[in-house]
Amino acid sequence: MPTQKRILTGDRPTGRLHLGHYIGSLKARAALQHEYETFLIIADLHMLTTKNSKEDIEQIGENARQMVIDYMACGIDPNLVTIYLQSAVHETYELNTIFQNLVTVPRLERLPSLKDMARAAGKEEMPYGLLGYPVLQAADILVPRAHLVPVGKDNLAHVEITREIARRFNRYYGEVFPVPEALVPEMGTLVGTDGQAKMSKSLGNAIMLSDDAKTVRKKVFSMFTDPNRIRADIPGRVEGNPVFIYHDTFNPNKAEVEDLKERYRAGKVGDVEVKEKLTVAINNFLDPIRERRAEIEADAGYVDEVIIQGTLRTREVARETLMAAKKAMGLTGVWNRISRRAEKRRKRLAKQATNDE
Ligand code: TRP
Repeated sequence: MPTQKRILTGDRPTGRLHLGHYIGSLKARAALQHEYETFLIIADLHMLTTKNSKEDIEQIGENARQMVIDYMACGIDPNLVTIYLQSAVHETYELNTIFQNLVTVPRLERLPSLKDMARAAGKEEMPYGLLGYPVLQAADILVPRAHLVPVGKDNLAHVEITREIARRFNRYYGEVFPVPEALVPEMGTLVGTDGQAKMSKSLGNAIMLSDDAKTVRKKVFSMFTDPNRIRADIPGRVEGNPVFIYHDTFNPNKAEVEDLKERYRAGKVGDVEVKEKLTVAINNFLDPIRERRAEIEADAGYVDEVIIQGTLRTREVARETLMAAKKAMGLTGVWNRISRRAEKRRKRLAKQATNDE
């Protein structure tokens, strides 16, 4: 079998995932796992760039577990995919240190994503580690020497930094790294229940993959629709209306959706019917995910085993990569020559000692 090309992608461990994650990344990951050897990183070191209190760190374990349960409940198969904890693969830190010399401060300072993250985290000044966020991400991507990086648009500029670092490394020291490609899922981002551009737990506009049927109903019924439609007999707008965006995304009954849209445009259907049908569609979509979740949770320790095995496997791959990188740089040679001379001296001294006896 020809060796498969590799994917690396992942998330910071902030907890449970929502429908936006499914549309924006989980669905594509589950599809790609058959074509690529996939590594999924639980990027806890990246989380530390904005959240590093003792309390934040205490939550990493449980957040990571919940996130991995969501991965698996959405069809990511741990027999195909290597899921690992970033902070437990020490080659990541080493490669990060090497890569820091292959990018300039102004190049990183120009990235709007980092300024946004600093602002969102309430930092007045840019922490050094946050400025280095994309460099650490380059280390993640190049630890397994990945070819493809499925990410959201907000991470595209970071993959571009990875490509620059890979090219520069190869030019300075010799071909070690592939120059990876980013892959942005065409489905893109899902709007929030409030119609805001992006579903996000912190904005409080998310339907979680682990929400129960009642919670989903409550959230759907509180959704924004056409703000100009104050009565059911007024013609409404379907385009850009979050309720219909969700119908298009999650309701497999296209005839029903078309009928609702037609009647909505004509002012012949109430929000209640539209939302009732959307509740059913989303709950039908989530039911198998909930079942998988329950099965996984029933097997205590299973998720932990998945993370452990994935991390051990990544350590092997990481060791090979770091060796190749250090060898290309001549760093292993520095240590080896020093070791050899020290060894020679030890032997010489030992010989003298026996001769003197
Ligand atoms: N930056 C990603 C995020 O926004 C997480 C991440 C860390 C990542 N390392 C990565 C994504 C490597 C893709 C590849 O949460």
